[in-house]
Parts: sequence; C-alpha cells; structure tokens
Amino acid sequence: MQTPATFVWNDQYLLGHGAMDDTHREFVTLVDRLLNSADSELPAALEVFEAHALAHFEQENAWMRANDFPARDCHIDEHDKVLESVRAVRQHLADGDCEIVRELAQALMDWFPGHADYMDSALATWLVKRSHGGAPLVLRRAAATREGGGE
Ligand SMILES: [Fe+2]
Ligand SMILES: [Fe+2]
Repeated sequence: MQTPATFVWNDQYLLGHGAMDDTHREFVTLVDRLLNSADSELPAALEVFEAHALAHFEQENAWMRANDFPARDCHIDEHDKVLESVRAVRQHLADGDCEIVRELAQALMDWFPGHADYMDSALATWLVKRSHGGAPLVLRRAAATREGGGE
C-alpha cells in the first residue's frame, strides 16, 4: 500500500532531549511541506529544508564528537548520505523535475522513524546520561491516534 502523502508529528518520535525533539518536530513539518507544496513553491521549500538538514545533522554530529559518543561514524554517515541526496535532488529540481522532490520527501518520511529510533535515541540517552546521570524521561501523551484522518 502506498504511504499517504502527509507527514505528521507523532509523540512516538519523542526522545526526551528537548533540543533534539524540537529539531525533529521541525524536520517533520518541513518534510511535510516538501510533500505538499505546489510545484512553484518547491525550490523555496527545498532550500528551507536543506538549511534545516544541515543545521540538524551538524548539531547532532557536534554533540557526538564533543561527548565521545561511541559508534558515531555510522550515524554521521547516514546524515551525510541524506545531505548528498538533497543536493542531488536540488540539481534535478533546477532541471525542472518536481516529482523527484516528492520522492525525496517520501524517502525521508520512511527513513526518519528508524533513524530516530535507533541512532538519535541512542544519542539522546547518551547526552542525558552524561548531563544528568540518568536515562531520559519521556512523557508521551496517551496517543489519540486516528487511522485514516477523515475530514
Ligand atoms: Fe535527528
Ligand atoms: Fe541523527
């Protein structure tokens, strides 16, 4: 089944590190914008997303380096691969291919939950442990998840 072309925040993505969680909310918003912008708005939406992605990944990479996070190489590698794809898509968009932006957005939507769950959550736990000496406390709302999202 095809994934619906909308990306909404889900509290399952919360990792208990405030700054990282805020950045991830912004990520979801901006990827959703890539999915749903009109063709004429895509260059601006992609530019905003790319700036976000650079800052988002650079921040996490800096935290990993500053805090001796083990196994940071594969995490940094994943960030680099995403940035490479974004750059390539920017080129294609400049050549008039709008659909590739939506394909990128779909791929990011599929990629993010796993990345957050494995890589970012390990980093969040590491950072919180180092600053507070304990694992992060994650308070998730009792999810009122509605399938289908009717009008
Ligand atoms: Fe992240
Ligand atoms: Fe990450």
